Amino acid sequence: MIATHTAPLTFSTIEKDAGLKKALGMKRSDLIAEITASQLKGRGGAGFPTGVKWNLAAAAQAEQKFVVCNADEGEPGTFKDRVILTDHADLVFEGMTIGGYAIGATEGIVYLRAEYTYLRPHLEAVLAARRTKGLLGANVAGKAGFTFDIRIQMGAGAYVCGEETALIESLEGHRGEPRNRPPFPVDTGFLDRPTIVNNVETFAWVASILFKGAEWFKAVGTQRSTGFKLFSVSGDCTKPGVYEFPMGITVARLLEAVGGEGAKAVQIGGASGHCIPATEFGRTIAFEDVSTGGSIIVFGPDRDMLEVAHNFLEFFAEESCGQCTPCRDGNPKLLECVEMLDNGVCSAQYLQDICGLGETMQVASKCGLGQSSPNAFLSIVKHFKGELMGRG
Ligand SMILES: Cc1cc2nc3c(=O)[nH]c(=O)nc-3n(C[C@H](O)[C@H](O)[C@H](O)COP(=O)(O)O)c2cc1C
Ligand code: SF4
Repeated sequence: MIATHTAPLTFSTIEKDAGLKKALGMKRSDLIAEITASQLKGRGGAGFPTGVKWNLAAAAQAEQKFVVCNADEGEPGTFKDRVILTDHADLVFEGMTIGGYAIGATEGIVYLRAEYTYLRPHLEAVLAARRTKGLLGANVAGKAGFTFDIRIQMGAGAYVCGEETALIESLEGHRGEPRNRPPFPVDTGFLDRPTIVNNVETFAWVASILFKGAEWFKAVGTQRSTGFKLFSVSGDCTKPGVYEFPMGITVARLLEAVGGEGAKAVQIGGASGHCIPATEFGRTIAFEDVSTGGSIIVFGPDRDMLEVAHNFLEFFAEESCGQCTPCRDGNPKLLECVEMLDNGVCSAQYLQDICGLGETMQVASKCGLGQSSPNAFLSIVKHFKGELMGRG
């Protein structure tokens, strides 16, 4: 059971299916314009504007299009989508249905993390109830000519399959390996058809925005990062759990709320995110400053930062799909360097060279996994060098 510390989440205040009914009464272009006006950015990590993505998919010419909900939630320290799927699955399916109407798709697919298999019966029951109510199937909610249904497909436990093109490969029954981009999924996605891939939370906000309006959403957050955001908080704090805060909250304010005062660092954005030291707790959590898909890991004063780096790099070395050299060979090299540091046999020059390798990985890796896997290591070296050197 995960504690939800902001009671109730805004999602609890949204009237079920009111947003969908409103959307179906709108012209598709006006509906997408409403999402664009809210300035909603994807809640899965990359922060791509949802309205822009949907506009591109809507404009693509094809007989068949797809809506995919990314419920892979594999980023270490992330569990907010699990709470949304448990407590607000209707809202997620409503958002997917709105997406289907907006871009002209007939099928939605939820790609569900293998470890969330236990959630499947619950999600299937919610889908069945929606079919009974006429909210899925032919003529959705009485909208003549709009047919849309949703099915669930299970992931198989690979972190890289959360990357949208690897996810699509996996949906098609292939190895979960990222594709070259372009072409992008909005143009050439599932079965080479235009496809929107969005995070669980993004779909729930879409339904909320349609119900409450773009202005309501925009009134919260910062100018460049509008709205609320859910956070999964874990680590050295007294109140771990799922929180909802406006975008733009400072790290210090968040730590106060979660009982993490006295922390020496916070990992924002999961293993692939950045490690922020106490001197930077005045920074804001927003796309224009420290961005995140929602994972916050608090490190208390006694936490060994080298062990943190070791833990994350072991994960990436294991999860690299091996397709490109910078990531396949780079992650084990970074991990080896951490082990050398631990044994006190890493020179300052070698550490500097390995940091150079990390920076090369950030620009030369094929997908977001290898581009972001050095982030934590590089920020830990930058801020905690004194703690890393001279061990053994
Ligand atoms: C290695 C890797 C793993 C990812 N895992 C997830 C995930 O579990 N859930 C998710 O929504 N996005 C994940 N993403 C981001 C997706 O590629 C994509 O940007 C996102 O699903 C788009 O949805 P959004 O615009 O609503 O955020 C991952 C990206 C990478 C590079
Ligand atoms: S960066 Fe890593 S996960 Fe991504 S394609 Fe290259 S080897 Fe695979």
